[in-house]
Amino acid sequence: MTVIFPKWTNKLPTFAAAAAVCGGAFVTFVVWFWFSPKHTDVGYAPEQPVLYSHKLHAGTLGIDCRYCHQHVENGPHATIPTTETCMNCHAPEKVKHDSTQIRHLQEQHAAGLPVEWVKVHMLPDYAYFDHSVHVHAGVGCASCHGRIDQMEVVRQDQPLSMGWCLECHRNPENHLRPLDKITDMDFEPDPEQGLQFVEERNINPPVHCSACHR
Ligand code: HEC
Ligand code: HEC
Ligand code: HEC
Ligand code: HEC
Ligand code: HEC
Repeated sequence: MTVIFPKWTNKLPTFAAAAAVCGGAFVTFVVWFWFSPKHTDVGYAPEQPVLYSHKLHAGTLGIDCRYCHQHVENGPHATIPTTETCMNCHAPEKVKHDSTQIRHLQEQHAAGLPVEWVKVHMLPDYAYFDHSVHVHAGVGCASCHGRIDQMEVVRQDQPLSMGWCLECHRNPENHLRPLDKITDMDFEPDPEQGLQFVEERNINPPVHCSACHR
């Protein structure tokens, strides 16, 4: 019988399988790093149904973030305030209301309807994130959301990609601040002081897959 294929080629299917597995992993890798929304989501600033301005309320008026985002310290979600919170100041009998924006707000409130705010930040369901853990560790809003106090319309400031999460989890010292400066938008974290906080607060952010993919 003529030998057409040398003997070693019997192993080819194994090689092919191995190559396919590695190739698959490589493709997955490339997909993570190059097609992750890292390059696309930053700057996302959808139009909102009411022209609510953080620049005015959080900046000029200096209202603390937690006045409206009440669960940011004690739960996974920061939550968006209901019109009830707005009515503390914008109820018909309180502030001037010759504004269509405010009138719309009051009408929604009177009808018991929520304002249909458009979500800006959104992680996929398979990624787990909890605000309270980060806030208690001393990561400020500005580290992840940028200068919200200067935004007329909220826009996404950071990529929220896996690489972004991991970058901070590997070097948390660059992002930690005193606990009374969590919502202070002017404060700049100092890595030297950060190292001290890592030790004092026993900070050790997880990098294993199951921490964020449960
Ligand atoms: C007076 C109430 C109020 C205050 C104070 C306030 N916010 Fe907001 N925030 C809102 C409302 C209402 C929305 C939803 C509409 C929008 O996106 O502009 C919102 C949206 C956001 C979003 C985007 C949410 C999403 O859809 O992903 C972020 C982030 C945010 N706020 C952060 C902050 C930070 C940080 C501060 C403090 C510097 C702050 N907010 C102060 C009312 C408030
Ligand atoms: C470590 C990063 C990080 C910090 C610190 C952080 N956020 Fe967020 N924030 C996120 C991410 C990620 C999302 C999107 C969450 C999702 O889609 O499940 C988000 C979403 C939000 C939302 C939309 C509603 C929600 O909970 O999904 C608001 C409002 C918000 N953040 C406000 C704040 C405020 C106010 C602070 C400071 C007190 C803060 N965040 C601190 C990362 C952070
Ligand atoms: C602590 C008080 C306070 C709270 C709470 C508050 N506002 Fe205001 N808001 C003000 C003040 C003060 C002004 C500027 C004075 C004015 O125009 O009446 C203002 C202005 C506005 C304007 C611009 C009005 C115009 O000229 O068209 C809008 C829109 C607005 N607020 C929406 C909201 C919404 C939505 C909420 C709830 C998420 C909210 N505000 C919560 C105090 C507040
Ligand atoms: C700017 C820094 C920073 C960023 C960005 C960040 N983290 Fe964290 N993360 C921390 C710190 C600090 C801790 C607390 C570690 C500790 O207390 O030991 C933490 C803890 C966690 C934990 C463990 C606690 C828990 O809730 O189970 C999870 C999960 C987590 N982060 C998920 C995420 C995800 C998902 C993202 C990206 C969307 C993210 N983090 C982005 C700094 C960050
Ligand atoms: C600190 C939190 C964190 C850790 C740890 C983490 N991931 Fe992720 N991962 C995320 C977030 C957040 C996303 C969603 C990013 C996005 O929306 O692009 C993600 C996305 C992914 C995706 C989907 C990729 C895509 O672009 O669609 C895969 C697959 C994945 N992670 C696998 C892993 C594996 C395997 C590990 C362990 C080696 C791991 N992750 C560890 C936070 C984490």
